[in-house]
Amino acid sequence: MTDVPTSVQSAADLARRIPKAELHIHIEGSLEPELIFALAQRNGVALTYSSVEALRAAYAFSDLQSFLDIYYAGASVLLHEADFFDMAWAYLQRAHADNVVHTEIFFDPQTHTARGVPMASVILGLKRACDRAQAELGLSSHLILCFLRHLSEEDAFATLEAAIPLREHFIGVGLDSSELGHPPEKFARVFARCRELGLHTVAHAGEEGPPEYIWQALDVLKAERIDHGVRCLEDAALVARLATSRIPLTVCPLSNLKLCVVSSLADHPMKRLLDAGLCATVNSDDPAYFGGYLNENFLQTVHALCLSAADVVQLARNSFEASFVSAERRAEMIRILEQTIVPHQS
Ligand code: ADE
Ligand code: ZN
Repeated sequence: MTDVPTSVQSAADLARRIPKAELHIHIEGSLEPELIFALAQRNGVALTYSSVEALRAAYAFSDLQSFLDIYYAGASVLLHEADFFDMAWAYLQRAHADNVVHTEIFFDPQTHTARGVPMASVILGLKRACDRAQAELGLSSHLILCFLRHLSEEDAFATLEAAIPLREHFIGVGLDSSELGHPPEKFARVFARCRELGLHTVAHAGEEGPPEYIWQALDVLKAERIDHGVRCLEDAALVARLATSRIPLTVCPLSNLKLCVVSSLADHPMKRLLDAGLCATVNSDDPAYFGGYLNENFLQTVHALCLSAADVVQLARNSFEASFVSAERRAEMIRILEQTIVPHQS
């Protein structure tokens, strides 16, 4: 067995300990098989898998679409406000255990409204869990409504319309689901309307799709953050644009591995993104499906790429810089980070 260098071990320990923000987590992707089965039983929903073990065994993906097919099937057990609460509360407790102090949570309303679930059940269930996390754990959070890009512009507009009465409960919109063949420009008018409503805008781009999709997310959708974005490295002008504008990338290393975006974590571009001066962050994407929550993503990436303690601190700082929090909350999170790195001498 090869020895792990002390510097890598201490960077990993630091990553585990320090406060962090998570900015790319699909709440439906936090549904663990045990909770899927419990909710299926509670709601009388039939599953095609006979056991938790059989379901987990199906988590072998060859690309994004092969994952999405199972992910949407898993979400079919969510029917009532209490189900959305239970799912989000389980994630928030898990995130707290990883020293996540702030999280911005994606949800996919169309996955649920298409099955007759009211928009209010989705948003109010998630919101109640977020309020409890703030009150009991001191963990702050925001909700981001994502449009499914494999569906039409018309469907996205109808979804936005249905969510407007609940506008106070979410801070922004995103774009997710099958990327190839569904370029950001398909949603130009929807995002323009969202910006008029004062919503923040983010978009998945450059996960499987080409750098051109990242350009479109920036120039057409005016996305304030790019989710994934790892394929930006194929385009030097795009890297320069992202670096000078400090547009953050919410990168998800274990997701990239499980969806075969990279063939091994040792090939992951995270270190190259940091060295290019980009505001890259570490996130878990769909932790129940990809083998780990935020700390697991940090630990495996630190080990695979021999990241330093300075890299780890930079990643945590980036997560606070990239978050949609008030200036006061950002300063507070950076202060806690600094206190954790340099313990008080008494
Ligand atoms: N929905 C959930 N996870 C996703 C991902 N990694 N890419 C696109 N859409 C998603
Ligand atoms: Zn994602």
